Amino acid sequence: MCGIVGYMGSERSYEILIQGLKRLEYRGYDSAGVALVRADGSLEVHKARGKVSNLEQVAKGGDTSGCLGIAHTRWATHGEPTDTNAHPHLSQSGKIALVHNGTIENYSVLKQLLTDNGYQFKSETDTEVLVQFIEYMRETHGCDLFEAIREALLRVEGAYAIAVVEQGNPNTMYVARKSSPLVIGVGDGETFVASDATPIVGFTDKVIYLKDNEIGIINRNSPIEIREIDSNEPSSFDVHKLKMSLEQLEKGGYDTFMLKEIFEQPATLRDCVRGRIADDGSRVVLSGIDMNRERFLNAERITLVACGTSWHAALIGKRLIQDFCRMPVEVEYASEFRYGNPVLNEKDIVISISQSGETADTLAAIELAREKGAFVYGICNVVGASIPRNTDSGTYIHVGPEIGVASTKAFTGQVTVLTLVALAIGQLRGVINADRVREVARALKEMPETISETLKIAPEVEALSRIFTYAHNFLYLGRGYNYPTALEGALKLKEISYIHAEGYPAAEMKHGPIALIDREMPSVIIAPSDSLYDKIISNVQQVKSREGAVVAIVSKGNTAMNDIADYCIEIPEVPECLTPIVASIPLQLLAYYIAVNKGKDVDRPRNLAKSVTVE
Ligand code: M6R
Repeated sequence: MCGIVGYMGSERSYEILIQGLKRLEYRGYDSAGVALVRADGSLEVHKARGKVSNLEQVAKGGDTSGCLGIAHTRWATHGEPTDTNAHPHLSQSGKIALVHNGTIENYSVLKQLLTDNGYQFKSETDTEVLVQFIEYMRETHGCDLFEAIREALLRVEGAYAIAVVEQGNPNTMYVARKSSPLVIGVGDGETFVASDATPIVGFTDKVIYLKDNEIGIINRNSPIEIREIDSNEPSSFDVHKLKMSLEQLEKGGYDTFMLKEIFEQPATLRDCVRGRIADDGSRVVLSGIDMNRERFLNAERITLVACGTSWHAALIGKRLIQDFCRMPVEVEYASEFRYGNPVLNEKDIVISISQSGETADTLAAIELAREKGAFVYGICNVVGASIPRNTDSGTYIHVGPEIGVASTKAFTGQVTVLTLVALAIGQLRGVINADRVREVARALKEMPETISETLKIAPEVEALSRIFTYAHNFLYLGRGYNYPTALEGALKLKEISYIHAEGYPAAEMKHGPIALIDREMPSVIIAPSDSLYDKIISNVQQVKSREGAVVAIVSKGNTAMNDIADYCIEIPEVPECLTPIVASIPLQLLAYYIAVNKGKDVDRPRNLAKSVTVE
């Protein structure tokens, strides 16, 4: 989580760093800080608890000149969000400044060693231990800063992306990474550093993705140099072209990124499907599967691993693959999978799903799967992120940068790609008939129009949200393909409005949660006209007979539900397997409007971060 940005060039670095931090705030926003090295070599550090705007207030009185600087926005892992715990952290002498993403696992051992040698600590962070340890290495080894960083990193256990500057040297910045991303932007006479490409967009489109166990030296007067941390041997690197545009990062006239991202879904789903369905609609073409035909033909089982919203998409993926490919499928939370001693071999395919491509638990799960010989397929949004670079093959969802912490367009993109993947595997294995492929493929192609139509219900949902703004609890119920949709609807409400919500399979309700139902407990029931519609009607009746209010999501033209439910929201009819995509739209809107009514910061909900790069 946390965000790093660094700059060295001929411009004042402060403004560039602040702008970069603001773009990175989605990664964490407990505190922020900046370290600037001025032309005379003096080092100036400003830090503040809270959002980047607080940092700007704090830095106002200080000298913010200097064409070299590093900055950080934090999501606390070690120590509370305070000014003192904010990055950058300084070494004992105050001469070395460092920003860090990740966690240093053996920091308490290192801290003890440093304490025994007279070092004192101001913060509770593992990061301060690292910067002090670097200084300790420099002193005990009598080496320069580059060598001291390398020596320190050789002894560090854990995950890190770091950027380091030092007093007295306005010409050099050092960076390194292990299991935490770091990108170098190569401009004309200037260099940028960031934990992902968002702060770099608009300055340069040339980027280098630092690889694990690499350390980079960025010097004003010489070309960028990258070395292996272990061997100190030079490491080769490619300069990639960045495809993200500035426009994609801005709110485009919406009040929030989340609302923009909800309304973008017709376009994002078009991008997601583009080029993946043959013009006549008879075939799905996914190069990631076509290039690995033997693996998919011989596979005996598929396991889907993911976290959060991506895990909900995985649950839908399971049904899709079961229905279209008739093969065994399992779904695991990535965090449970990695510690569950999974039984895997080369006949297994593990599909990892992640918007950011940087989720630590998901990364660790795929590493384990590969070690055990499974073929790992990644479904990801962020191009060039760690997950696509550590999988055997995969498919991008191509929905563009998702900035709002609550995932919306990435979820519908993931379900869309999972549908394509299931169709492609089903075709390859010869178990899905051509008519079914055509039916689903046509509906996917029409999805942009279907979602545009669905979004017209926004004013209706906004009005409905006012009735429920002050509810304390919600139940979300669904069956079949829409049980995961219910889980996702509940998660959306929880994370941005802080209202307790539970998602449940509708038929399970009678085995316990029904005890909770009374006038104070509204239920949102996803009840499109599908194969389970008749079954879910009886679940709605069970809620109504306990005086619970029911909001039903129904297919257009379903008037029967009007007599039973308190409120009905109509969605367009689509094939049953695609109902989660359409039904999730009113759920996203309901959560959004309730959170706005409550005055919450929907793009940056408390305690959360967009990319969870810690265990
Ligand atoms: O980037 P990922 O898809 O791997 O992230 C997984 C979860 O952290 C993420 O989906 C989280 O649950 C979102 N805040 C949901 O809106």
